[in-house]
Amino acid sequence: MFGNSFSNWTLVVLSVIAAWFVDFSEAHKLSKRKASDVACVENGKYYRNPDVSKKNCFTYYFCLGGTVFEYSCSGGLMFDIKQQICNFEDQVKNCNVNAETTSPRPRLNTLEPICPPEQLACNGGQCIDKAKFCDGNDDCGDYSDEVVCGFSEDPNLAPACNRTECVIPDCFCSAGGATPPVIKDVTTIPQMVLLTFDGAVNVQNYELYQSIFSANRTNKNGCPIRGTFFVSHEYTNYQFVEKIWKDGHEIASNSITHRQPEKWWSNATKDDYIAEFEGERSILSQFANVPMSEVKGLRVPFLKPGWNAQYNMMSETGFLYDSSLVAPPSTPPLWPYTLDYRMPHKCIGYEQKCPSRSHPGIWEIVMNQHKTKSGYWCSMIDNCPEEGNVDRMYEFFQDNFKRYYESNRAPFGLYFHTIWFDTDSHVKAFQRFFDDLLAMPDVWVVTNWQLIEWMRNPTPLSQISQFKPWMCNDPNDIRKQVDPACQIPNYCHLSSAEVLGDRYMATCNTCPSQFPYIKNPSGSDV
Ligand SMILES: *[C@@H]1O[C@H](CO)[C@@H](O)[C@H](O)[C@H]1NC(C)=O
Ligand SMILES: *[C@@H]1O[C@H](CO)[C@@H](O)[C@H](O)[C@H]1NC(C)=O
Ligand SMILES: *[C@@H]1O[C@H](CO)[C@@H](O)[C@H](O)[C@H]1NC(C)=O
Repeated sequence: MFGNSFSNWTLVVLSVIAAWFVDFSEAHKLSKRKASDVACVENGKYYRNPDVSKKNCFTYYFCLGGTVFEYSCSGGLMFDIKQQICNFEDQVKNCNVNAETTSPRPRLNTLEPICPPEQLACNGGQCIDKAKFCDGNDDCGDYSDEVVCGFSEDPNLAPACNRTECVIPDCFCSAGGATPPVIKDVTTIPQMVLLTFDGAVNVQNYELYQSIFSANRTNKNGCPIRGTFFVSHEYTNYQFVEKIWKDGHEIASNSITHRQPEKWWSNATKDDYIAEFEGERSILSQFANVPMSEVKGLRVPFLKPGWNAQYNMMSETGFLYDSSLVAPPSTPPLWPYTLDYRMPHKCIGYEQKCPSRSHPGIWEIVMNQHKTKSGYWCSMIDNCPEEGNVDRMYEFFQDNFKRYYESNRAPFGLYFHTIWFDTDSHVKAFQRFFDDLLAMPDVWVVTNWQLIEWMRNPTPLSQISQFKPWMCNDPNDIRKQVDPACQIPNYCHLSSAEVLGDRYMATCNTCPSQFPYIKNPSGSDV
């Protein structure tokens, strides 16, 4: 019984991983054939046979231009009409549903335009500003301004990259996304390596961070290497965050609640995003003494970006970069870009909702995927399937690094949750690989923001030792003008109406009266 559900679970995990690298439309195509005896339901989605007597749960259809195509799930799987994928029978709860009910649609393609220029018609015929379509707000009242918003449909779709208009420092784009900025000879580009850690910072990982960033690991300018921490609130020790920041690492926001279900993040509103990310930034400034302006970036939990709503929040609150979008498997890998123009790659992954509009000046540190020795692609290292032993794990790192170093020298991102380091062979492989990297003459380990500084001012290897943003002894550095973190913090024993049970929170500052949380980031009496 247990064994059975365990192997099912493993399969689901594998199929989810597989979904990351098998393009879904490709997978669907494999079993495609024409079905002339089934009615056409043209709603841009897969559906079941509307003829109830012929309906089953593993065959499904797609109608395009009046032609119906038939598909079947293989291996005893059933088709989930809501998620639009084949899945295990016990996971599929909608075998009795024929087609996903579609929301009312806007009236975009009428013979005579209904509305004046710069306005478009809702389903009910009323005209609203074009700019209000696909902005995450229900402006029509029946949600019809928010349903025709795909990458080829959004009436406010960002234009494709124009390199005459898009110039550094504030704008960078390229067709395809793999072109580095400015520098023609790639061998003069410093190979940047990013180390990022997501989640709570606390006693379970603080020692690990000290050992990874040990004082003898330095860049060629003598500065100790530094990483980027996407901090989520619960179980975070803010004394440790303060120390980490004052040691020179970058602190970024990974939300307050890190809530489930995962897809909540895809559909959250701008106000939800403000509460989660601006909220965490405010907690970081109040309890870890990291100034708001130093928290420049964010990563959405579960890598489920929030469409234009997330990026509108970023422009409004002054977040300068995101690092949640995952690139399709790509050799050469992609460079970061700004979102003034349309993103240069497909939006991938189950229910990733990527920004379709222009968001001028916002940087995307796109997450390139790693290829495992067994052929899977994965973005966070801890989602990559186990390689088995130290040597294979080491080769996995080496092989992937070479895809960057020997091609376009896109920044090589190593993205972790610290749980990955609980396995001894992982630690050994990583240490070996990492010290090999640091011994190379043209490799630099930088924070996400230091990468963006380089994008804004691409500096060749010959001058890189003098590149200011990568130095560590600037007396004007804001970190040098504040007191060091306290040695002994306050351990605050707190509760809040928003969370179940009590919480302990360490901070060098005075304890708040409630546990800081989503509606009350200052933890004040309410
Ligand atoms: C790019 O921008 C320039 C300058 O505004 C313009 O002349 C050119 O037509 C644009 N190119 C494309 C492909 O839109
Ligand atoms: C740094 O020191 C640690 C022990 O303190 C050692 O294990 C590691 O190999 C050293 N790394 C380098 C790059 O010298
Ligand atoms: C997204 O949010 C809208 C408005 O709140 C809601 O109508 C819709 O059902 C949601 N979609 C999903 C997939 O949760």
